[in-house]
Amino acid sequence: MFINGLRIKMVVAATLIAACFIPATASAQVSRSPVAPRRELVESVVREAYEKFKGDTGGKNADYIPYLAQVDSRLFGVAIVSADNQVFTLGDVNYSFSIQSISKVFTLALAMEELGPDQVFQKIGSEPTGRPFNSVPAVVDMPTHTGNPLVNAGAIATTSLISGKDANEKWNKILAFYSKAAGETLKLIDEVYGSEAATNTGNKALSMLLAKYERIYADPFESVDIYTKQCSIGVNAFQLARMGATLANNGINPATRKQVIKREHIPYVLATMTVAGLYDSSGYWAWHVGLPAKSGVGGGIVAIVPGKGAIAVFAPPLDEAGNSVKAQKVIEYVANKLDFNLYSPASVGLK
Ligand code: DON
Repeated sequence: MFINGLRIKMVVAATLIAACFIPATASAQVSRSPVAPRRELVESVVREAYEKFKGDTGGKNADYIPYLAQVDSRLFGVAIVSADNQVFTLGDVNYSFSIQSISKVFTLALAMEELGPDQVFQKIGSEPTGRPFNSVPAVVDMPTHTGNPLVNAGAIATTSLISGKDANEKWNKILAFYSKAAGETLKLIDEVYGSEAATNTGNKALSMLLAKYERIYADPFESVDIYTKQCSIGVNAFQLARMGATLANNGINPATRKQVIKREHIPYVLATMTVAGLYDSSGYWAWHVGLPAKSGVGGGIVAIVPGKGAIAVFAPPLDEAGNSVKAQKVIEYVANKLDFNLYSPASVGLK
């Protein structure tokens, strides 16, 4: 009975895999998930989205970090990297922008590599604040004070968990970890760091408030400085998509094949992105898109389609919550057209 059942399953699986391999082009020979949409379809849907939204003038560059105010608002790039390392890019994908809050995802992952998920959960937490990303009242009101690793207070506290004999060693560890996730050596954008370090009084205030509640785990101002550097790391849309694809691919970078993040930590990272990745718009995002994602005030958003890949979009103008307007629109369009919404039965092949 078991053997017969197994045989039927094997025949069905072989049929599905064969169907996926029907060679429309040479690239269709690459193996992929039986439920992943075909490359040609992904490309045409991304092109449609790019054309549809490229003229959108909604939103405005972040200006509380002076450097960001003068970045060209018309820059617009889209990159997709699949779990089996297929790449599709469109527009300004070589422009290096600051990763900003998207960094928080990877420092969370690094903290878990060092301390394990239970310690990180206990020291930081994972509750949405429903408040802006830099909220002071959230620190006072939230029972954990830190809230979650993706708001500024929780992120600064997460950075404070990274071990090292001095600030330099901690910073280098963070930079090396992000680089492994990207599969390339990433660099600090000095001008962004200088601009943010000269104006980050709000984050320093958050760090001192956390110290009052004993919810920061190293020197507060040292932690803010390392955090400011991690936010000033330069990525282009393609590198960001590959960092996302590492999350989509169980922690293995699809290009280098190296295990960067322990596979058992991935669900905690993705769950945190779901509850807080777009701050006080995370509810809207879960409802309309249904993918774990993270935004940064530099204009990037990366969304993860577990097991399949990641899409990264860069376009500097932001909405009130600090999320790129065009990036949200492109990802929402693509996710819906390709049935990526994780809460949709269609996402796992059910109709
Ligand atoms: O600390 C800050 O305010 C920035 N370095 C990062 C904020 C951010 O990217 C929020 N994202 N949408």
